[in-house]
Amino acid sequence: MARALPGASVLIAGASGQIGHHLALAAERRGLTWSGTYNEHFLPGLHALDLRDAAAVARIVRLTAPTYVLVPAAASSADRVEREESASYGVNVLGIGNLVDAANEVDATIVYFSSDYIFDGADGPYGELAPACPISRYGMQKLIAEHLILQRAEKAMIVRTTIVYGWEPQGKNFIYRLLAALRTGEEIAVPADQIGTPTYAPVLADAVYDLLATDIHGVINIAGRQLAKRDEFARAAARAFGEDPDLIKPVLTSELGQAAPRPLRAGLCADVAEELLGRELPGYEEGLRRMQLAREPATLQGSNVGKN
Ligand SMILES: NC(=O)c1ccc[n+]([C@@H]2O[C@H](COP(=O)([O-])OP(=O)(O)OC[C@H]3O[C@@H](n4cnc5c(N)ncnc54)[C@H](OP(=O)(O)O)[C@@H]3O)[C@@H](O)[C@H]2O)c1
Repeated sequence: MARALPGASVLIAGASGQIGHHLALAAERRGLTWSGTYNEHFLPGLHALDLRDAAAVARIVRLTAPTYVLVPAAASSADRVEREESASYGVNVLGIGNLVDAANEVDATIVYFSSDYIFDGADGPYGELAPACPISRYGMQKLIAEHLILQRAEKAMIVRTTIVYGWEPQGKNFIYRLLAALRTGEEIAVPADQIGTPTYAPVLADAVYDLLATDIHGVINIAGRQLAKRDEFARAAARAFGEDPDLIKPVLTSELGQAAPRPLRAGLCADVAEELLGRELPGYEEGLRRMQLAREPATLQGSNVGKN
């Protein structure tokens, strides 16, 4: 059952992205006052914001005066970050600093979304206390942002998550790309040496608000409880959506020629979150079943700041 956050309001920086969309939907389900931002992908009701513009960041935070500043906003493609390190540093580190300063000014708690890419992938799934050791520029930027927040934010929760999937406005996560490829009837190469803990986006969003209601601070993992090799996850998705799992061809990550190195044995252990929440976080088979039943992206009613 959803826990109450009485009187709380949230600003979602990056509400046009996958996790931000589900944070907004969950805010609406709870009747929270919320507002959100987009950067390049306009969505009605959201405010335009580039995290690199410190004055604009301060303005929107002052205008909305939220209890919580939720920050899924990021340059989130590991391969792009690897190729465009300095441009993405401006968003993933300096931009996060702008939000931290603005949140401090209005006494808001900052809720940042980090990743298991801060680990080297030698021995996941990782608990909250495992030593970080990123092997990609993206992982390094996420780790620097974590440190920046822990040092500079007056109130913060850092949510580490991984392989997030669900319906989303931009339709670009792994499941969308996989299903589009399978529908062409061609074989698709999926790494069999990457292990992780896929996380269903609505489950992540609900867990975030319920954990905020417990008033915890610091780092917390939120992830599905079932470990999967990436090709196993892909086959389960194919079956859930009535596509042919035999089109999935297991390959090694090294064969894919991706710009950013991947942590291979990764994933996150969410025992602490489950204990605090008093419930299990579903694994990928249950998450895919729920996604298939939901059928399509839900529509937001719209940012309700100023309406109540
Ligand atoms: N998805 C995963 O599997 C996963 C796993 C672990 C951690 N995470 C972390 O979770 C966060 C959200 O992931 P996601 O899947 O929701 O990513 P996403 O779908 O790519 O969304 C990223 C969001 O950031 C916004 N953004 C990009 N550049 C910006 C800028 N310069 N200023 C302001 N906003 C900007 C985007 O806006 P526009 O699209 O409008 O430009 C979008 O709303 C990221 O920090 C990511 O590192 C994700």
